[in-house]
Amino acid sequence: MTDQRIEITEKFARQRMKNYDSGHDWWHIVRVRKLALFINSAEALTDPFVVDVTALLHDAADSKFAGKSNEQGYIMISDFMEKNGMGEIKNQVLDVIKKVSYSSNYVASNSDDPLLWIIQDADRLDAIGAIGIARAFNYGGFRNNPIYIPGIESESNDKSTIGHFYSKLLKLKDTINTSTGRKIAEERHEILESFLKQFYSEWDFVAYNR
Ligand code: ADP
Ligand code: NI
Repeated sequence: MTDQRIEITEKFARQRMKNYDSGHDWWHIVRVRKLALFINSAEALTDPFVVDVTALLHDAADSKFAGKSNEQGYIMISDFMEKNGMGEIKNQVLDVIKKVSYSSNYVASNSDDPLLWIIQDADRLDAIGAIGIARAFNYGGFRNNPIYIPGIESESNDKSTIGHFYSKLLKLKDTINTSTGRKIAEERHEILESFLKQFYSEWDFVAYNR
């Protein structure tokens, strides 16, 4: 039987993320949750209940879409956990949520909390592979960025979505904390590489190569 606290946390997370962009929505949470639970069970690192709750809440304080500061988000999450029988794990979960964002650039391997390794790996895995590509172009569209600015690909630059591959996505494989995560990352990284190869060949289309 599902722990009632999981159901309540699902509802809370869904509600919090209602206005986020579609690459960063409830389905991102569903995917991260599956990846996190898989990594945890493959490596038997920590309590699956805590993994589940943290995966569900990991983006619930994000100010980019929630319209308020992250600090206010953290207070809401803290109150929510306290009121719903999760006071004991509150501090551990909040600590991970604060560090996990890849925009925060926190190096999780410096931490001795396996919960952070797992959630960060799962979040990063969802930013690469086919889903990662879809999310990047979705986000770029949301920001009205060009898909590509010729000549920019060698730079780390977020001005175009292809630029984002170089500034972030292609680097993620080497930042994965767990060996289970690393295997998945390698497969997904190859998808990024083959996508880029095809992208450039279409961009530089020359009829005589056919
Ligand atoms: P986090 O969820 O860890 O805070 P972000 O909000 O930075 O990470 O990123 C969420 C998603 O949006 C990821 O899939 C990421 O690749 C994508 N993204 C972030 N910045 C850009 C950008 N400048 N161009 C394209 N995609 C982006
Ligand atoms: Ni996330």
